[in-house]
Amino acid sequence: MPVEPIDTMGRPIRDLRISVTDRCNFRCTYCMPKEIFNREYRFLERDLLLTFEEIERVAGVFSGLGVRKLRLTGGEPLLRRDLDVLVGALAGIAGVDDLTLTTNGSLLARRAAALAAAGLKRVTVSLDSLDDAVFAAMNDVGFPVQQVLDGIEAASAAGLTPVKVNAVIQRGVNDDGIVAMAEHFRGTGHILRFIEYMDVGHTNGWRLDDVVPAREIRERINARYPLQPIDAGYLGEVAQRWRYVDGAGEIGIISSVTRPFCRTCTRARISAEGMLYTCLFATAGTDLRVLLRGGASDTDLAAAVAAVWTARTDRYSEIRSEATVPLPKVEMSYIGG
Ligand code: GTP
Ligand code: 5AD
Ligand code: SF4
Ligand code: SF4
Repeated sequence: MPVEPIDTMGRPIRDLRISVTDRCNFRCTYCMPKEIFNREYRFLERDLLLTFEEIERVAGVFSGLGVRKLRLTGGEPLLRRDLDVLVGALAGIAGVDDLTLTTNGSLLARRAAALAAAGLKRVTVSLDSLDDAVFAAMNDVGFPVQQVLDGIEAASAAGLTPVKVNAVIQRGVNDDGIVAMAEHFRGTGHILRFIEYMDVGHTNGWRLDDVVPAREIRERINARYPLQPIDAGYLGEVAQRWRYVDGAGEIGIISSVTRPFCRTCTRARISAEGMLYTCLFATAGTDLRVLLRGGASDTDLAAAVAAVWTARTDRYSEIRSEATVPLPKVEMSYIGG
């Protein structure tokens, strides 16, 4: 049994976020702006992607190093063919007690039952507005709200619960829909989470003025539906949780900009081509595919990951400044959020 590595700030590795594709059928303006992610954009070639067998092996190695939660991401993970086969393989890894997926929901209505049958535990669906015009402008492919709502209901019916719904809030774009979203999801059992818009990647033209601080989001909802704080569900949970005083459920607010949570960050990320990143805002990673395809044993892989993690110093959100915003960070669609 390898020793579980601890980084320079005392943090173990507990979560592994695995991107299975850098492609997406949406072009959210804050993530994959069309001017860049267009026909000329070079997405990863198929033979560069980790195979399901390679992903399963990597996940097994990480579980030996302390990982308890796996999350599949993209791009849009449901664009990867036969994803339920991968889910089935990951569900069998010893020591992993949470297996989930972050999706834009567009293909979920069709796939939820098969994913649940394969062993997926729950899903998180991104949905930034309930207003079709606003949502269409944000996803920039004219995708309708109702189909995402159908996906959420299909996931819920398949037992992928609680379904979490992620809304990235941008001032002047969708912030006027905050209370309407809270109202819609109250009492449904789904957990709506508002996310402060972040300066991930370097193509979205992020400005601090576009961020609606967590406190303001909470105050707007609280004015209509009183809220009270509740404890985190687990150490290092990124969302601050609030419950409706009237018992209609809970919401989360993710304040990476105004109240960073690096101190308890136990997340590692793997890109679809097998690069390991120890921070969402990383500018460089470690190539695991070259080890996987170069004959490395599981022990070699574990040693390589442990060496990277032991040296980890990341705390980007705590040191964010005008100087860090323009750094050439990896794109959200590549690293998986
Ligand atoms: P739960 O397991 O349900 O608590 O999910 P999660 O919040 O860990 O994952 P999700 O994919 O839903 O992420 C929600 C938001 O938080 C997204 O905008 C992520 O990019 C952001 N986020 C997740 N992890 C980190 C992190 O380590 N650092 C920062 N800055 N943001 C993060
Ligand atoms: N800031 C905050 N959240 C973002 N996401 C994508 N780009 C950003 C950004 N710039 C969200 C997605 C998804 C989650 C994984 O990250 O909407 O819900
Ligand atoms: Fe696709 Fe999600 Fe990025 Fe939108 S935020 S473009 S749905 S990966
Ligand atoms: Fe973790 Fe980096 Fe996010 Fe901080 S900014 S919480 S270190 S991923």
